[in-house]
Amino acid sequence: MSIIMAVKGLKEEIERVLITPEEIAARVRVLGQEIARDYRNGAAKDPYGRPLLVVGILKGAIPFLADLIRAVDLPLEYDFMSVSSYRNGTSPGEVRIIKDLDRSISQRDVLIVEDIVDTGNTLDHILRLFRARAPASVRVCTLIDKPVRREVEVPVHYVGFTIPENVFVVGYGLDYAELYRNLPFIGVLKREIYEEARVANR
Ligand code: PRP
Repeated sequence: MSIIMAVKGLKEEIERVLITPEEIAARVRVLGQEIARDYRNGAAKDPYGRPLLVVGILKGAIPFLADLIRAVDLPLEYDFMSVSSYRNGTSPGEVRIIKDLDRSISQRDVLIVEDIVDTGNTLDHILRLFRARAPASVRVCTLIDKPVRREVEVPVHYVGFTIPENVFVVGYGLDYAELYRNLPFIGVLKREIYEEARVANR
């Protein structure tokens, strides 16, 4: 199979495009402006005036973070954290650190960047962990918020798009079985794709 056919196949597995690349780009620009404005106008609390530290949660946040930081007109640094949540088998909400931050966040202004806040368990865990490290401030920016799925209340300061229905979205970082992250839009995965996988795993 050629590469072109494989890419075509990926898009064919999408039922409908929910958010176009143009809509994502426009929203990211606005979020970047809001973030820059807020941190210039009092959101920054670092007593030493160090740059904002943007923390991307791997892997889904990568495309969003890459675009967002270029829309924020502020001095900033970025770092990454990788966590894994156990959804099947063990109790929900159990989160393990795979890769921790490279540097201390003590007395720093931290902006966590997520691709999606779903049940809220991952973010809740990360926030608890970060607060224990005494940062100057912590805010959260997510591309997608899915409040219908929330199990734990978490503070989210910046939201790209709120998805009111419980649909399975992929693209622009969001995956199903590690695939579809490279789609330039956010779309709804065809039901038969994950139904097939469910049957195969039986
Ligand atoms: C996704 C997403 C969030 C989390 C949200 O990560 O990036 O971190 O799930 O879900 P929650 O609100 O129900 O906790 P995932 O574990 O799928 O890893 P990934 O980013 O590598 O795809």
